[in-house]
Amino acid sequence: MSDWIWINGETIPISEARIGVEDRGYQFADGVYEVIRLYHGKPFTLDEHLQRLERSAQGIHLAVSPERAALAAEIVKLVSRSGVRNGMVYLQLTRGVAERNHRFPSTPRPVLLFYARPLPPPQLPGEGEGVRLLALADERWKRCWIKSIALLPNVLAKNQAVTADADEAVFIDNGVVTECSSSNLFAVIGGKLVTHPVGSKVLPGITRSVLLDCAVNQGITVDERGFVEEEAIRAAELFITSTTREVSWVARWNDRYIGQARCGPVTLALHRALCKRVLAETAKAAQ
Ligand code: PDD
Repeated sequence: MSDWIWINGETIPISEARIGVEDRGYQFADGVYEVIRLYHGKPFTLDEHLQRLERSAQGIHLAVSPERAALAAEIVKLVSRSGVRNGMVYLQLTRGVAERNHRFPSTPRPVLLFYARPLPPPQLPGEGEGVRLLALADERWKRCWIKSIALLPNVLAKNQAVTADADEAVFIDNGVVTECSSSNLFAVIGGKLVTHPVGSKVLPGITRSVLLDCAVNQGITVDERGFVEEEAIRAAELFITSTTREVSWVARWNDRYIGQARCGPVTLALHRALCKRVLAETAKAAQ
């Protein structure tokens, strides 16, 4: 049912899709990607994701084609054909097949593809066990604002966390907490919502920006700044955000418990606000 893929303008069964062995995405991780959440069969914050895709592509000297409105329409069509109601769209843009050479090909033939996959329903605000974080040195590059498919440092960190009986790795860059291996991190410190600014070490998460907006609407003071590990451990609340997990409260940082070792009131309020926004933007289209 969900097994369709859109690849360079063609919609075909995913089992029939072929990528050349000399695709630069495969050989050099020369590409960028997006993960877009589907609720009620509708993409959430699609335009924001496509804007970020354009910025990421620009960051590696690629252009996105078709242009945004046409691409959005193609995504909506594919989602409807896939029949996925609650899930995600994975989208990837690579520089395509060229004879292997570090230099860009003079006439690149980029490959743009996307497909939908179902996901289990997200956890309700405040429910579930808290996330256990493992703090690790941030060994990633300095262009984390590019949503690059070169994810090996993230993959290694995530697996190191899982091996240590944690759920997610949190990165520390010169003593400063940046973000997690596949999510952004927020702390409630002194009644303020604190999160590292986006840029060289932090991806401009779409969920992050929606939550910041929700926080402002609720009169919560936002403080975008770096903070050190000790501040994080002593925070009243910690939570992480991403497209696939929405908001997850953090129970532990290495072997230390955070706050009251349960989902805190700010996390709960912001997660509820996000759910409300999701409902407002996706439920109507489902009727
Ligand atoms: N990851 N930071 C990193 C390093 C990420 O990989 C992600 C998302 C985020 C959160 O961004 P957003 O709210 O836009 O999903 C932050 C996706 C979900 C992934 O790689 O699967």
